[in-house]
Amino acid sequence: MRVLVTGGAGYIGSVSVELLLQMGHDVTVLDDLSTGHRGAVSGRAHLEVGSYGSTDKVVALLEKSKIEAVLHCASKAIVGDSMKDPGAYYSENVGGGIALLEAMRTAKVRRIVFSSTAAVYGLPDNTPIPETDPLRPTNAYGETKRVLESAIGWYGQAYGMRGVILRYFNVAGATMEHGEQHTPESHLIPSLLEAAAEGRPVTLFGDDYPTPDGTCIRDYIHVEDLAWAHLRGLEATAPTDTRTGPQSGPCEPLICNLGNGRGFSNRQVVNAVEVVTRHSLGLKIGPRRAGDPPVLIAAPDKAHDKLAWKSRLGSLEEMIGSAWEWRQTHPSGYR
Ligand SMILES: NC(=O)c1ccc[n+]([C@@H]2O[C@H](COP(=O)([O-])OP(=O)(O)OC[C@H]3O[C@@H](n4cnc5c(N)ncnc54)[C@H](O)[C@@H]3O)[C@@H](O)[C@H]2O)c1
Repeated sequence: MRVLVTGGAGYIGSVSVELLLQMGHDVTVLDDLSTGHRGAVSGRAHLEVGSYGSTDKVVALLEKSKIEAVLHCASKAIVGDSMKDPGAYYSENVGGGIALLEAMRTAKVRRIVFSSTAAVYGLPDNTPIPETDPLRPTNAYGETKRVLESAIGWYGQAYGMRGVILRYFNVAGATMEHGEQHTPESHLIPSLLEAAAEGRPVTLFGDDYPTPDGTCIRDYIHVEDLAWAHLRGLEATAPTDTRTGPQSGPCEPLICNLGNGRGFSNRQVVNAVEVVTRHSLGLKIGPRRAGDPPVLIAAPDKAHDKLAWKSRLGSLEEMIGSAWEWRQTHPSGYR
């Protein structure tokens, strides 16, 4: 398969590119390197530096590279920033996303796998969260993802776009080649590893939640498991695959949560980081962050059934251990 990966120089995109190449696919990466790294893109993939929001350029790229399917990982993805500057998030994630869909329509590329997020649910009605839970995002980031999900649905109805929408929960871990390098880092596990490496204390936001140890509980998924789900998702968009619609006519995207189906509390994560790194973290407890739900756990049954996908690297030790190893073997990151 000839695949365009937007955001393939980023954390999740680069691991997916690694797997796609390993499985013999032909990969073109489109990335503006705003948060990604040139060094994260394998020399075996073609890197085009630019934005997925430039319709004409994307049409030319899709046609020149004879792309069959798009894995759309690129986006702005920091919740706090989205609340300070929602315009930038709407403009990139929604405006840019529609520009990408239009480019695909023009170039007659009708297969897309979209990186969505558990943030589309907001405060869930059910735990674990099924895909049928109401979508009530509590931040602009989640809302922009919800809007693009719905646009993919309409493109399926009207233009036969075949889509798989994957709502990731918390992603962690690394492969030997690719890991997480964000500046600033907003995710818990890499922040804790950074703190352990630098001997800095860390602050947990709240320990008075209605959970067994008072800290928030989250569902973590290994980035390598996620890459497999992308591959399974891309396969499900094949024109003969009924999971994403009939061979011709209106199509309905397949929407799946991607998580382990179990949660770990922030305190459990801290303990696991201390065990893996053999550093003791000076822990401080700060106030709760507005809008943080106490528990977010995926019901991953649909991904199991429809994508024949299951997480294989689901323990905290595997996720934290691989991320720590990547840090140790890449002391300067991708530089
Ligand atoms: N990391 C997580 O825990 C998590 C959880 C849920 C959903 N997601 C989603 O997964 C996707 C990937 O996340 P990540 O953690 O790898 O982020 P990342 O920032 O590491 O990667 C995003 C990549 O997209 C590129 N990019 C951004 N805007 C672009 C544009 N307009 N044109 C071209 N390239 C652009 C960046 O340079 C970067 O390489 C995002 O869509 C995010 O919303 C991530």
